[in-house]
Amino acid sequence: MAENGKPKTKLLDELEKGPWPSFVTEIKKTSDVSPMCDDLLGQLELSYEEKKGHWKHGGIVGVLGYGGGVIGRYSDVPEQFPKVAHFHTMRVNQPSGWFYTSDALRTLCGIWERHGSGLTNMHGSTGDIIFLGTKTDQLEPAFAELGAAGFDLGGSGSCMRTPSCCVGPARCEWACYDTMKICNDLTQAYQDELHRPPFPYKFKIKCAGCPNDCVAAVARADLSIIGMWKDDLRQDDAAVAEYAAAGLDIQKDVCDRCPTRCMSWDGQTLTIENSECVRCMHCINVMPKALRPGKERGAAILVGSKAPIVQGALLSSVLVPFVPEAELFETLQELIKRIWEFWDEYGKNRERVGELIQRVGMANFLDAIGLDPAPEMVTAPRDNPYIFLQKETAK
Ligand code: HEM
Ligand code: HEM
Ligand code: SF4
Ligand code: SF4
Repeated sequence: MAENGKPKTKLLDELEKGPWPSFVTEIKKTSDVSPMCDDLLGQLELSYEEKKGHWKHGGIVGVLGYGGGVIGRYSDVPEQFPKVAHFHTMRVNQPSGWFYTSDALRTLCGIWERHGSGLTNMHGSTGDIIFLGTKTDQLEPAFAELGAAGFDLGGSGSCMRTPSCCVGPARCEWACYDTMKICNDLTQAYQDELHRPPFPYKFKIKCAGCPNDCVAAVARADLSIIGMWKDDLRQDDAAVAEYAAAGLDIQKDVCDRCPTRCMSWDGQTLTIENSECVRCMHCINVMPKALRPGKERGAAILVGSKAPIVQGALLSSVLVPFVPEAELFETLQELIKRIWEFWDEYGKNRERVGELIQRVGMANFLDAIGLDPAPEMVTAPRDNPYIFLQKETAK
């Protein structure tokens, strides 16, 4: 501690230099309204000096009625930094697509200035508004004020976590379904599973409007919903000609980069063999004024992505190649029900859906949730002959 109760932060002060917005400067600013910030900086400086964390392991706190939404955290040097002795994080469910009015943000800021450190993370990787740092006795009052303002907590623990989505049709011409509506509808439909952890482990849902996947659904969600179209790309030949006239090398930058080489350009007309197109988005991304996704829109549903622990990182694999937008919510509800039933019954403690599928095999998983295997589900057929047969088929 130094003069004015401000901690000496020699190492952190270095991070106020340079062009990028400095988190150190921001925390120092917030210390004018919240004394917790001084101790947070003090403890962080200590961590920088010793190159190790100073939060105790774990911490179980929450609000009445819910089993998650708050991540408890305690300092392991509370005598030195008493103001961050408790430093719990509240996850607050964000609006779909992270669209706010300044009114809503002021309301959130007011609540957090009254009940917490004033520090936030906009946003947590899963999508939640993160209220960073408060004491146990402030959780219920903060929760009550949030509720009165129309906000609810997000998920944590072995539950359905807060779903998130790309901005979709709000601001993007490529959205193949209403990502924001599906995200919101799923959030509302599974409030119980979100607030009261019922599962072997966490379960995340992310909704991307097209294969560009601006929420990284394929890598960060147990259930990845990715916009897709079934018919032909919509093509405006005059606009293609304009791109060519403006200097775009359509042969080199579009046709030669198409992964299935299903496009050709004779200097006048662009021809697309749509049956061979894998909807990679490249040509659309290059010529947004000339090409658009088709009109028969919907989504592909993929399952299983997760980070490395325990069995290795996974990307989601195709479960349903195409669902028309009109049937999407209903289909998702049915699929989610079947997946959860099977996972709940057979998943081991702290086993993600992706790992369960690896353990029992995709064939058994499909059987359990009542889907037929389809070629779109694999990149290549198996290359070993250790094939199990059902008793009946083997005869
Ligand atoms: C004297 C004749 C043969 C002997 C002693 C023999 C022995 C073996 C042994 C010890 C393995 C186990 C290797 C391993 O799993 O790492 C094996 C695997 C195998 N054998 Fe043979 N084998 C013979 C002939 C054949 C023939 C004629 C075929 C097929 C036409 C065949 C097909 C296979 C297959 C498909 C495997 C599994 C391959 C794999 O590891 O993925 N074997 N054999
Ligand atoms: C040091 C000696 C041996 C080693 C290191 C060895 C190693 C292996 C390995 C790694 C496999 C594959 C297991 C799997 O992927 O599930 C295998 C399979 C097999 N081995 Fe051996 N093996 C040895 C000796 C033998 C002997 C002496 C025989 C037969 C007399 C034999 C017969 C087989 C057969 C039939 C299989 C295939 C089993 C299956 O497909 O489920 N192995 N062996
Ligand atoms: S994922 Fe597709 S639809 Fe969503 S914002 Fe990105 S480009 Fe647009
Ligand atoms: S979307 Fe991709 S695969 Fe389809 S035509 Fe365009 S570049 Fe080729």
